[in-house]
Amino acid sequence: MDRRASGTQHPTPFIGSDFTEEDFEAVRDHLLAERGIDLGMYKDRCIKRRIATRVRARGFYAPGPYLEVLRREPEEVTALLAALTIHVSQFFRNPSTFAVLEGVVLPDLVVRAREDGRREVRLWSLGCAAGEEPYSLALLAETLAPPEMKISILGTDLSPAVLERAREGLYDALRLGEVPEAVLKGYFSEEGHQFRLCRRVREKVRFECRNILDSGAYPPADLILCRNVLIYFGRRDQETILARLAAVLPSGGYLVLGRAETLPGEFRGMFHVAYPAERIYRRI
Ligand SMILES: C[S@@+](CC[C@H](N)C(=O)[O-])C[C@H]1O[C@@H](n2cnc3c(N)ncnc32)[C@H](O)[C@@H]1O
Repeated sequence: MDRRASGTQHPTPFIGSDFTEEDFEAVRDHLLAERGIDLGMYKDRCIKRRIATRVRARGFYAPGPYLEVLRREPEEVTALLAALTIHVSQFFRNPSTFAVLEGVVLPDLVVRAREDGRREVRLWSLGCAAGEEPYSLALLAETLAPPEMKISILGTDLSPAVLERAREGLYDALRLGEVPEAVLKGYFSEEGHQFRLCRRVREKVRFECRNILDSGAYPPADLILCRNVLIYFGRRDQETILARLAAVLPSGGYLVLGRAETLPGEFRGMFHVAYPAERIYRRI
């Protein structure tokens, strides 16, 4: 029915830019108090837009009544965190990117390390969530298994809670949709309706809690996966992070961003765009 034609008042759907600072702060304070998640460091616009989707999903046209629900129902806090997608990841997320990593990037890094007389290739998954990304690298390393070359894999994240989950290595089927059947059978064991990654692969990854906004959080690495992390930050923080990543990558090292992320123009002098569709860049 056309509500305008019937004369019924039709409120406009609530969108992120409608947030007052006070309401937004109330949501932020609640998430910090309840789950220890500090939204303060992220880009407001992006976060507000995602909170607004929950306000609408609960059938509200303003954040006031939504806040009441949020305070009353812990399940809504969980639903909101899921909508914020802050810790969302998947094994082999964007499989075509992993195909290039497996077929080109990792073999290239191994050859170059050998040429340089090194015995180690260093991979870093920054913003590694519950380990899906660094463990995907570990599974690739398992198949490549280059002789006399150590592939060391570091996963870092801001959240101690997700890192704890990462160390456990226990996943819902939802996270494993891109894992080839043979890999699932060979490296995971079923526990109830979840799957645990075998200890041998888990032990290939070292997890550390690091805030990417700290200048001391940047270890040297030959390949850095910084996917779906920059989207949460404002332009200035993105530039600071990228400058620090460029500083730790040796010439010929690789940087991989998320599908929704691109390297700002001012960094194009530092990186060659190796695989544009996969957001794979190479340090010049
Ligand atoms: C959407 S997940 C991306 C996971 C994975 N990289 C992927 O693309 O599938 C973003 C991750 O970045 C982490 N993160 C957010 N802010 C961070 C910060 N300041 N320092 C380190 N990690 C951060 C979050 O905790 C979250 O686990």
